[in-house]
Amino acid sequence: MTTGRYPATRFRRTRSSDALRRLTRQETLSVDDLIWPVFVMEGENGRDPIASMPEVARLTIDNVVRAAEEAAGLGIPAICLFPYIDPSLKTEDCAEAWSADNLSNRAVRAIKAAVPEIAVMTDIALDPYNINGHDGYVVDGEIVNDKTVEALVKMALAQAEAGADILGPSDMMDGRIGAMRAALEDAGHVNVSILSYAAKYASAFYGPFRDAVGASGALKGDKKTYQMDPGNSDEALRLVERDLIEGADMVMVKPGMPYLDICRRVKDAFGAPTYAYQVSGEYAMLMGAAERGWLDGPRVMEESLLAFKRAGCDGILTYFAPEMARVLTARQG
Ligand code: PBG
Repeated sequence: MTTGRYPATRFRRTRSSDALRRLTRQETLSVDDLIWPVFVMEGENGRDPIASMPEVARLTIDNVVRAAEEAAGLGIPAICLFPYIDPSLKTEDCAEAWSADNLSNRAVRAIKAAVPEIAVMTDIALDPYNINGHDGYVVDGEIVNDKTVEALVKMALAQAEAGADILGPSDMMDGRIGAMRAALEDAGHVNVSILSYAAKYASAFYGPFRDAVGASGALKGDKKTYQMDPGNSDEALRLVERDLIEGADMVMVKPGMPYLDICRRVKDAFGAPTYAYQVSGEYAMLMGAAERGWLDGPRVMEESLLAFKRAGCDGILTYFAPEMARVLTARQG
């Protein structure tokens, strides 16, 4: 790359009009880049707002189906379900997690029946079903790996059976992708995709999400023995490589904005479909400031999402998905 000297080179030339700016723009955001995470709860025609996530609510299955119809209408390719599990169903063995008729699996079936064209992504981890709020089984105060993987495989099969298109293991146990992929192949679910939460950090930005799924009260201790240390980046590459080899189709970096350097390294190293999760705390931060009039909400929404494209991501899981899609669609006229 060579750059001439002033005045032969004036960088302001290509910024001097909207037409030139559009022509020279490297990255753009499209509705095709968006995955919309939604929270599901029991009941009918219900909508429970989540205080720490302005404009986000837990929805009953009928309303989730409406949300999926809206998303499909806006051109959003995928919706991702997170269940709010009644505390009475949280147990030590987490059996509700792979029950064929649990809340999440019923929601998957309802969406696929009404809006088959939208891809449905699910979450694989024990935390919504676990009495102590952890993503894995707790035995004598320790989060055990291999026994957890067996449970996660059962969850994966139940979700694939329900019709999920994309499985999202968010648990960070070792060996789970290989075990799930083998079980899916055996069961004939050869086209069910896995979007691995490969580089998931032990982050304080998940706080509002844990409120949304009712896990804040349940969680005993922290998740540092399975989620990544925020000081590490080489480890993220090793995790992504491992998960791709084991059969992940797509990989994720999570959280998003504080970890854009990881997105770029992952994309450059593997060239695999790479996603970032702009998590609940990032959403709360931007929305909270926008509500107070300290930031221009629509502009920071778009700028923050475009940053993921610049960092090499193919898509973003974001609570802004429907709002961003509306803005993009309106712009096209
Ligand atoms: C749990 C899970 C978490 C998120 C997605 N799946 C929270 C956690 O690991 O404690 C966070 C998403 C968000 O903050 O928006 N398996």
